[in-house]
Amino acid sequence: MTFHQARWDEPPVWELSTSSSPEAPPVIPALPEKLRRKAAVRWPELSELEVVRHYTRLSQMNFGIDTGTYPLGSCTMKYNPKVTELLARRPGASNVHPYQPESTVQGSLELTWRLERLLSRITGLPEVSLQPAAGAHGEYAAMLMVRAYFRDRGELSERSEVLLPDTAHGTNPASAAMAGFTTREIRDKDGSVDLEELRRALSAKTACFMLTNPNTAGLFESEILEIAEAVHGAGALLYYDGANLNAILGVTHPGRMGFDVAHLNLHKTFSTPHGGGGPGAGVLAAAEKLGPYLPVPRVVKEGRKFRLDYERPKSIGKIKTAYGNFGLDLRAYAYILSLGEEGLRHVARRAVLNSNYAASRLGKLLPRPFRTLVKHEFVLSGAPLKEKGVRTLDLAKRLLDEGVHAPTVYFPAMVEESLMVELPETESKRELDGYIAAFERAVTDTPENLRAAPRSLSVTRVDEVRAAREPLLSWKDLRVASAKS
Ligand SMILES: Cc1ncc(COP(=O)(O)O)c(C=O)c1O
Repeated sequence: MTFHQARWDEPPVWELSTSSSPEAPPVIPALPEKLRRKAAVRWPELSELEVVRHYTRLSQMNFGIDTGTYPLGSCTMKYNPKVTELLARRPGASNVHPYQPESTVQGSLELTWRLERLLSRITGLPEVSLQPAAGAHGEYAAMLMVRAYFRDRGELSERSEVLLPDTAHGTNPASAAMAGFTTREIRDKDGSVDLEELRRALSAKTACFMLTNPNTAGLFESEILEIAEAVHGAGALLYYDGANLNAILGVTHPGRMGFDVAHLNLHKTFSTPHGGGGPGAGVLAAAEKLGPYLPVPRVVKEGRKFRLDYERPKSIGKIKTAYGNFGLDLRAYAYILSLGEEGLRHVARRAVLNSNYAASRLGKLLPRPFRTLVKHEFVLSGAPLKEKGVRTLDLAKRLLDEGVHAPTVYFPAMVEESLMVELPETESKRELDGYIAAFERAVTDTPENLRAAPRSLSVTRVDEVRAAREPLLSWKDLRVASAKS
């Protein structure tokens, strides 16, 4: 039996063949006797209505971007257009097997190749790979590329250190350390990189400086060109954490700022559903000099055909099964094409406008440590709440009772009792005003109510320490726990 797919959006065509062609599937041997069931399965006896009610109730206990504002700073929780979902579900996309012969998935390979070209234009970096499965995975792969680059130049034993600003997302130092580098933090000056301190820290030991711009305090690093010059002057590489690309989409790009290698979070900037650890796509984009080190396989176009190329001797190798997360790639491709160049620029402008509007209003309720114009997100400090015996965590829980999601809390770490708010471009002014009103009700509530929140959810305040130490990971654990209580 063979499978043909001329275009990604066309249904697959299966063909029965009696000849034993090289593409014929292998014969699966019968299951060994000891693995076979001895008795019939006992299915639960439930009516259709009972099942429908069960799942409907479960869905009502869930909170998602489709039910309310979700301003998690650094996470870019924006609306995912339903049209991209419909496209991703089409049989030509969802029935493809990652290990099908290349000749049968020409449509998918073409889409991958086209998306890589679009992301290259968006980042200003010529070489792109869609392989990593998440932002942190992209960071780690990029750090392996940095290693391979310096190994090739005979400098690896010397260049053992990665520098990071104190605003860096936690995954950045973790990725550098996992790739075998030591890490060193550069303190900020008013929320941005302290250029003088960076210059003092740079040395012949430095392999890379990892930075996101705008940073996680929502501030654009206005000295980025000087930063790039200093890093390159020391013979090191500059890495771009693209998780905040939403703020600069179509307005500027990491290539213009002097970055050598970047990861992008397709699941954030290009609007595909994410949360709870997945799914993700942490695309890599690299300058020409780092292109040979990207993971294999790379998609190449030869005439009118596409193929996966493994013949890249300098590559860091394969970092994920199959090629990447195709469902996310497809959604991102559709999202980019549906918005076009001007639409993408509008995303960034609107996200920045939303953020500054909310920052100026919420800044009247809680102090803002960095009082300049911000990009796509901003930071508040819940420190004054401590005077009435309340912490940022209590405010976050109280917001849930308002039917909205809390912002990111306790990050960035350099701000006491921090809250990081990101209200992306898909939130209307009416939604922003609703969120601000909810925030005001929460922050001005009594300390007792704040500490007792949330009251209206199916799960109230959980014992987080106990949850971490004694996690209930299956329905059997839950049954045992409820029998004990
Ligand atoms: C600035 C920044 N960098 C990196 C990451 C890691 O991305 P992922 O969660 O896809 O691994 C995040 C995720 O929140 C982030 O906000």
